[in-house]
Order: sequence, then C-alpha cells, then structure tokens
Amino acid sequence: MSAAGRTKGHISVPQIRARKGGDPIVSLTAYSAPMAAILDPHVDLFIVGDSVGMVFYGMDSTLGVTLEMMIGHGAAVVRGSEKACVVVDMPFGSYQESHSQAFRNAAKVMKRTGCDAVKLEGGAEMAETVAFLTARGIPVMGHVGLMPQSVNSLGGYRARGRGRAEAMKIISDARAIADAGAFSIVVEGVVEPLAREVTNSVVVPTIGIGASAECDGQVLVTEDMVGLFNDFTPSFVKRYADLGSLVGEAAEAYGQDVRARRFPAAEHCFKVKNTKRNQPSLGTRYNRHSDLYYLKLDA
Ligand code: KIV
Repeated sequence: MSAAGRTKGHISVPQIRARKGGDPIVSLTAYSAPMAAILDPHVDLFIVGDSVGMVFYGMDSTLGVTLEMMIGHGAAVVRGSEKACVVVDMPFGSYQESHSQAFRNAAKVMKRTGCDAVKLEGGAEMAETVAFLTARGIPVMGHVGLMPQSVNSLGGYRARGRGRAEAMKIISDARAIADAGAFSIVVEGVVEPLAREVTNSVVVPTIGIGASAECDGQVLVTEDMVGLFNDFTPSFVKRYADLGSLVGEAAEAYGQDVRARRFPAAEHCFKVKNTKRNQPSLGTRYNRHSDLYYLKLDA
C-alpha cells in the first residue's frame, strides 16, 4: 500500500532548513490523524517520534518500536496535517546495521507515509549513513545529546554533556551530522551553554527538547504538554493543559449516567419512521424495521 502523499503548500524541508537563526521553529510530536489535525495550525513541524512506544503503547523504552508501527503512525499524521512539515523517526535497529539497510527502510517510510523526512539518532558514527541517505533523496534530521535508543549504553535518561569530554563529543557529533547533510538536528537533554555551543557550531537549525531556549526551535512530546501521559513528566516539560484529568472526569460522568440510565436519552437514539410497516401490532414485541435495526415498538 502506498501513501497518498502531501497536499501542496505545506512547509517543506528546505523551508525548515532556512529557518536557522530566524523565528523559532515550533514543533510537537504527533502519532494520530485527529491529534495532527488539531495541532497542525499551530506548529511548523511534526515529529512522529518513536516515543510513541512509551506514550501510546505503554512500553518501558523506545527499543521495542517497529518500522511497521512508525509507518502506521507516520501515515496517520500525514493524513491529518495540511500545513506542517512531517518527520518520521527511524526506530531502533532499522538503520544502524548498514547504509543499504538504512536506505531500504527509510525509503519504505517515505513511500508508505508520504512524510517529508526521516529522523535518526546518532553522532559521528551515523554521519556516513546521513550522507548516503541525503545524497539519494532522503532528507534526514539528526538527533544528538540524550539519545533514548541508546538508553542501555548511556545508562539511563540523565542529561548529557555536563562534563567537558561529553560536551565536546556532542558538539563534534552535531557538526558531523550537519556536515553530512542533515537539514536539522534535535538536541535533547543538554545544559544551556552546551545547547548554545551546538547551535552556534552548526549551519542547520537545532530543535531543542530539554535543551534550553538556546536552540533554533523547540519540540515537546504533545502528551506531556497537554497532560495525557503521566508515567513521568520530565522537569523540562511545561504543561499547558491537564487533559488527563478532563478525560477522567468525562469518563466518571459517563459512567454515572449509564448506571443511572440517564444516557442515552431520547436525543441520542435513532428515530423510528412512522410508516405503516412499523405500526405496533398486538403481541409484537419487536418489529423488523430495516436490514440493520430491530426496534422495540410496543413496550
Ligand atoms: O521520539 C520522540 O518523541 C523524539 C522527540 C525528541 C521529538 O525523538
């Protein structure tokens, strides 16, 4: 099955690339068409993140996310958005093995979702892969600093680059990825001076998450931002709504109405057409009204 592709007029990869040093790029994650449609007027860029594994599927990390999952969610977000540029995460194990594995899987993501670009995690060690993909028509967003797919090697989700050696490595990683042709780089979980240094060191926009205002744009996981994911909320998240509580209250009110038989009320029920065929006959409890509905007429 192939994707329908994007409608014309949405924000393109070169337009995101050209925002270096300009107005901050506004980005959020999205995993579904309805959420993408709600957010689309307000963002420049969607990242269909592999955080979907934790936020949507309840996994402990992003490592179990598959290419098929990313394709399904990526295609949904493309269908739901009109204006924003859409970038889909390459999941763990789908690109690290070889250039050809990365190209095969990234091309699959592009073809089947209709997205604008893919994102992959990694520094200097992924630079050749980034060059391979970009030279063959696949725009790539990089991701340095805290890289959740490397949680086992990094020993957890702590902020990165607090020490000098680690900071220098993150700067050279970002440079390597930018030099290889990435059009933008997510910088995750680093302290402000390092974010500034990374942003000043590369010619492409940096998109920060937990990386201070010293980036060319910002991204948050939408469910964190609106209070729909409560397993843990990183300290860098600003919560703009508490939808989790609203959904809980709505479910409670619904449950009360169902138990008290207040829902469904008359206005929530299909109306019976007053045809001769539907006139109640003595002793008939149910009459066939159509091929679809059996209606209780004489109760
Ligand atoms: O998976 C994700 O949500 C991410 C964000 C940092 C955008 O990579």
